[in-house]
Amino acid sequence: MTAGGQGRLEYLPATPRHRAAVVALLSSSALPTEDLPATLDHFFVAQVGDDLIGVIGLELIDGGGLVRSLAVAPAWQGRKVAHQLWGLALAAARAAAVRELFLLTTTAERIFAHWGFARWARDRAPAWVRNTPEFRSLCPDTAALMRWAVEADGESLRPSGRSTV
Ligand SMILES: CC(C)(COP(=O)(O)OP(=O)(O)OC[C@H]1O[C@@H](n2cnc3c(N)ncnc32)[C@H](O)[C@@H]1OP(=O)(O)O)[C@@H](O)C(=O)NCCC(=O)NCCS
Repeated sequence: MTAGGQGRLEYLPATPRHRAAVVALLSSSALPTEDLPATLDHFFVAQVGDDLIGVIGLELIDGGGLVRSLAVAPAWQGRKVAHQLWGLALAAARAAAVRELFLLTTTAERIFAHWGFARWARDRAPAWVRNTPEFRSLCPDTAALMRWAVEADGESLRPSGRSTV
């Protein structure tokens, strides 16, 4: 597939019909797929025609959110596709009134820092994060744990936008 090829670039919520293409993109990006939720609720994809060229996932757990499975096909990297996908995941987190987001990364710490995530000591991770398969076994111990909190954003994640901090 070549960038700028067939079709319009569009962003949409993932559905189970996207699952095979999501697994393929994550696998080719060396990201875990073993624990991918069946229905892909709160996952978003970028598509060009029938080609899936980007994905991001948000898992809502115990009032928090785990950001995962961010990948963009190599031919489309560097065009802010990840940035757009992050915007959709953040909007979904806001709609769910999530107050803090966590993620584990071995490759993209700089990008996430750019979006307001900060390193967070693994031994300070809340129990719901420590219990995720990503934390327990799928991501290496050397993976950076990062946190994004409503306080850091300076506004509430509630749709009203009114601060409750
Ligand atoms: C990380 C990844 C999703 C970025 O996708 P992308 O669509 O190219 O990113 P964007 O174009 O939205 O760029 C976002 C920012 O990150 C920067 N960036 C993009 N790729 C980068 C890279 N490989 N290394 C460092 N910075 C990078 C961009 O310059 C941009 O910064 P800016 O806003 O200051 O210009 C993509 O490189 C990828 O799929 N990598 C392999 C899978 C991976 O590592 N995923 C993260 C797992 S947690």
